[in-house]
Amino acid sequence: MHSYFRLNIRRLFLGGIVTILLMVVACYVLWDRNTVFGTEAVSVNQKPKLDVPYEPTSYGIAKVMLAMADVTAKDLVYDLGCGDGRIVIMAAKERKARGVGVDIDPVRIKESIENAKAAGVSNLVRFIEQDLFITDITPATVMMLYLWPEVNIKLRPKLLKDLKPGTRIVSHSHTMGGWKADATQNVEGHSLYLYIVPVNLTGTWLWTGLNGKATNIRMTQKFQEVQGTLPGNNNEPFLTCSLKGAAIRCTTGSFSIEGRVSGDVIKGAVNYGVRGPTRTVKATRNPSTKVSIAE
Ligand SMILES: C[S@@+](CC[C@H](N)C(=O)[O-])C[C@H]1O[C@@H](n2cnc3c(N)ncnc32)[C@H](O)[C@@H]1O
Repeated sequence: MHSYFRLNIRRLFLGGIVTILLMVVACYVLWDRNTVFGTEAVSVNQKPKLDVPYEPTSYGIAKVMLAMADVTAKDLVYDLGCGDGRIVIMAAKERKARGVGVDIDPVRIKESIENAKAAGVSNLVRFIEQDLFITDITPATVMMLYLWPEVNIKLRPKLLKDLKPGTRIVSHSHTMGGWKADATQNVEGHSLYLYIVPVNLTGTWLWTGLNGKATNIRMTQKFQEVQGTLPGNNNEPFLTCSLKGAAIRCTTGSFSIEGRVSGDVIKGAVNYGVRGPTRTVKATRNPSTKVSIAE
């Protein structure tokens, strides 16, 4: 009886030591995990880092932004930094367009989803909690922005690279730096800017139909403005062109060209003055001469 009692005491003692050791190991592991993952765990509860603070576009201005972009039921309207979702919701409600709103702030995304429900357009719009700089914007046909000037400039290469030629961008209050706006309006004391994403026209194009002979013209481009030079002509501009998406209009002293760009081919008409003839022209690009216009 006495030895049975002593055996149990020893077992209890050993069990206690093992339990304490296990607890120490568990505490260490938990402490270690917290130091490794602690920052991430805290950041979930932290407010997201905004590149632009929240300030909603007035409904009056939003209406004009949609009109400037000529939004129709065929469009897919993106708003990068969508706030409470009002622009894409208005595009869906008033113009039957589909929309995608992106905001890094979960509070704004929650509001947007609730507002879309209340407006009865949840079937047309979608909201994504994400940093706008990593959003896939390639499906957009219209882009709405109300950001800050430096954010527009940082975003500009992505807009020029990822959006299809002809996509309309409307920016509330701020320009795109050196990219000239295709149209501007002033509403309620706020400037609005429309930009049409230009096709890339850079490189050397072999034109047929100009003055009856095949001519190589090297095109250089700054956003929607293009200049063409003849080879060996000391970069003296021969053609001055402007782009509206994929539509091209060029002039020289003696003729003008209107056409459309599709990949490495331009098809159009050349007009030699009021009394002169109009002929069809075609140009084909050497693809290896094309350079990026995303700046
Ligand atoms: C000036 S508000 C514009 C709201 C809305 N577009 C409008 O016009 O009513 C800017 C919005 O951008 C969001 N934002 C700021 N930085 C962001 C980022 N890096 N990615 C996504 N959204 C961001 C803010 O949370 C805010 O809702």
